[in-house]
Amino acid sequence: MARTKIICIIGITGNQGNSVAQRFLQDPVYHVRGLTRNPSSPTAQRLSSQGVEIIPADLNDINTLIPAFHGATHIFSVTNYWEPFFHPDSRQKATDSGLSCRRYAYEVELQQGKNIADAAAHTVDSLDQNGFIVSTLSHARHCSRGGFRELYHFDAKAEVFPGYVEQKYPVLAGKMSCVQTGYFMLSYRLIPGAYLCKKLTGEGKPTFETAFTTAPDIPVPHLDVNADLGTFVYAVSKMKPGKRYMACGSTCSWVDYMRVWGEVNSVSAHYRQITLPELMNRTPDREFGREVGDMFSYSTDPGYDGGDEGLLMAQDIRDAGIECPMTGLEEWMRKEDWSGVLG
Ligand SMILES: NC(=O)c1ccc[n+]([C@@H]2O[C@H](COP(=O)([O-])OP(=O)(O)OC[C@H]3O[C@@H](n4cnc5c(N)ncnc54)[C@H](OP(=O)(O)O)[C@@H]3O)[C@@H](O)[C@H]2O)c1
Repeated sequence: MARTKIICIIGITGNQGNSVAQRFLQDPVYHVRGLTRNPSSPTAQRLSSQGVEIIPADLNDINTLIPAFHGATHIFSVTNYWEPFFHPDSRQKATDSGLSCRRYAYEVELQQGKNIADAAAHTVDSLDQNGFIVSTLSHARHCSRGGFRELYHFDAKAEVFPGYVEQKYPVLAGKMSCVQTGYFMLSYRLIPGAYLCKKLTGEGKPTFETAFTTAPDIPVPHLDVNADLGTFVYAVSKMKPGKRYMACGSTCSWVDYMRVWGEVNSVSAHYRQITLPELMNRTPDREFGREVGDMFSYSTDPGYDGGDEGLLMAQDIRDAGIECPMTGLEEWMRKEDWSGVLG
């Protein structure tokens, strides 16, 4: 079958982009083009050996994005707030600019998103009707009516996708689908001070505690990003454009998360709601603690998705007759190797 479509994938060496690449590679209609800053990295080389066209590009430089997107029928967009946040230079750059490192990373991610939108607008005519699929999150400042003004890794995405695109490029916006992503199931590896801490009970028995600022009974979305984001984005590409989605395989509270995790591992496990200062004290990097702490609080009210009841989920895609199998939380937990946590 002729490869009549070209999908350009940003972040192809990362969790989201690689998942998208693996799904589109299975469809012989697609030529897969992947953007990276480092085409010689082992991950880029492995993708190249799978048939991906690897293109050097930097999201900070729109002049590298315009030729990379040229002729694309589809673009998958993702930006990574944590890259500028954790970059060794960024604390100094933030101080020099008079910004917190959280705000500094926001400014970088915001500009990267605008660069992607500006470059995509150059090739809007070649894009399919639903050819611009963007990974984003809800707009915390707007959705909380100003209650959360510093949930930067949400707002940097939402300011552009959909905000800036709708405002500046109506034709591109007409070809866009916005995919919010649930809590990555793998994120327990990223916040060891808060997820799954081993403790001893009064009787000296081990128990595991997860402690966030989210209220115990609030359901939040959970996503097996590596296995499922590609499935979800591929399914979204078959839908009509202009819709908003939440990609997740399960929606449940942290109490239920810990109950299932304890059952899967046959150990005692529970969830405890803590305050933001307590969460920040438990996190080695207080700025990181503040950023994720706000996310966990925002997840209570108005909700991780900003309280948007119009978001489509995998079931809605299946109801439209499009395949969209997703991994449930328990299924993922049973596959995961927990030996490092259990000790
Ligand atoms: N963890 C969670 O629970 C969760 C939940 C929802 C949303 N998110 C969001 O997910 C995003 C991270 O996605 P991910 O996990 O897929 O990231 P990841 O695995 O860390 O990969 C980041 C990708 O971005 C690319 N990249 C970074 N800076 C770039 C630049 N300047 N130019 C070109 N490419 C660049 C990297 O490519 P090269 O290094 O090859 O250039 C890499 O492929 C974050 O913004 C986060 O807020 C996370």
